[in-house]
Amino acid sequence: MGALFVISSLRTIFILTGLLFTMTTQASAAVKSEIVCVQCHGSQTGRFAKPVELWRGSIHAENGINCNHCHGGDPGDAENAMSPARGFLGTPVETGIPGFCGRCHVGVLKDYLGSKHGKNLGKGGPTCITCHGSHQVKKTTIELINEKNCSRCHSYEKPSQIKRAMTATEAKIVYIDSRLSDFKGKGIDTSAMEKSLFAVRNRFHTLFHELNVARINLQTAEIDKELEQQLQSIKRLDETEQKRKLVGVMAIASALLAALVLRLYVKSMD
Ligand code: HEC
Ligand code: HEC
Ligand code: HEC
Ligand code: HEC
Ligand code: HEC
Repeated sequence: MGALFVISSLRTIFILTGLLFTMTTQASAAVKSEIVCVQCHGSQTGRFAKPVELWRGSIHAENGINCNHCHGGDPGDAENAMSPARGFLGTPVETGIPGFCGRCHVGVLKDYLGSKHGKNLGKGGPTCITCHGSHQVKKTTIELINEKNCSRCHSYEKPSQIKRAMTATEAKIVYIDSRLSDFKGKGIDTSAMEKSLFAVRNRFHTLFHELNVARINLQTAEIDKELEQQLQSIKRLDETEQKRKLVGVMAIASALLAALVLRLYVKSMD
């Protein structure tokens, strides 16, 4: 028994040291060498350097999506980095952009292609980068739908209908999210509610690219119903919380009362 224990803990130590070793070497490698695309383009000037600067602040950089993940090529070999033989794709032409982005955003691509925007690709319809940019892509919010962005090619009437339908739902999601983290901070188990909020939020955020006002209205109405249930649960949690506080206050009050009675009693004995 004893020997076995020693052997198994030695093994654990070996594994741990091995892991630590790989982790430190990987970390120092990451500090030492940025991929060659970033190194070389970062030292260019003008339009060949700009992508690096813009990309650094993007949600893609944040999530480890690098130059080569979009443009292809070899990020470890400066000499052959942009060789087609290493998978370099170059810069997409306008009509190629949705497919270029849609390699990863498959669901969005499908909705986009089915929409009036996708059907007008190459004929005055916007591509992904008209709305999101190519290198400076940020986390999206509903504020991307605004008069300046959406009235360049047509009236703002339909965009504003979409925005109206989505705004109230978005606000509810944000509210529930912040209340759940409050409760979590107080040690209340919110994991089940978080899970269903996550699912609802994902469903909600896939509504836009189809541009189907009627469907968006229908779907947000359904999502609102689910959110209403969550709001009810939050109300119940609030009430339990209130009761707990009341019980606490009453306990303190009765302790004070007891102390007072005792003091009066002791005084009356003097
Ligand atoms: C999310 C995908 C994506 C990533 C990541 C990305 N690019 Fe691009 N890039 C594009 C698209 C789309 C275009 C074409 C449209 C345009 O010019 O904005 C483009 C265009 C370019 C161009 C041509 C610019 C011009 O004016 O002709 C260069 C150079 C470039 N990218 C370099 C880079 C470098 C370097 C990185 C890494 C720091 C990078 N890109 C990361 C999507 C991406
Ligand atoms: C040694 C320097 C160097 C390296 C490494 C390098 N580039 Fe470039 N790149 C350039 C220069 C210079 C240009 C502009 C002239 C040209 O097109 O050759 C350019 C142009 C581009 C363009 C726009 C022109 C086109 O062909 O579409 C893209 C996109 C691009 N690079 C992406 C990348 C990516 C992705 C990597 C890494 C896999 C990379 N580059 C690595 C120097 C470099
Ligand atoms: C190699 C895969 C890949 C390619 C190609 C790619 N993306 Fe992304 N994109 C990601 C990942 C990973 C994330 C971060 C995780 C997430 O939010 O889905 C992301 C996030 C985003 C977001 C933010 C989503 C949010 O939650 O708000 C937008 C917008 C976006 N990408 C647009 C684009 C556009 C536009 C292009 C083409 C120019 C593009 N992506 C090309 C992988 C990719
Ligand atoms: C007309 C402008 C417009 C075009 C064109 C467009 N988007 Fe979007 N996109 C938006 C808006 C607005 C949102 C935010 C919707 C929300 O908050 O629910 C969004 C959200 C997203 C998201 C995050 C939500 C999700 O469904 O994951 C991704 C990723 C994304 N877009 C990628 C793309 C890609 C890829 C393309 C091209 C195939 C594209 N977009 C075309 C405006 C646009
Ligand atoms: C580059 C031009 C361009 C931009 C920018 C643009 N659109 Fe469009 N949009 C079009 C075209 C083209 C059509 C199709 C017109 C038609 O069939 O009448 C269209 C149609 C629409 C429709 C009608 C869909 C239908 O089925 O009737 C909606 C909704 C819409 N766009 C929303 C938006 C929103 C929201 C934005 C901003 C985030 C936006 N558009 C930005 C070009 C654009």
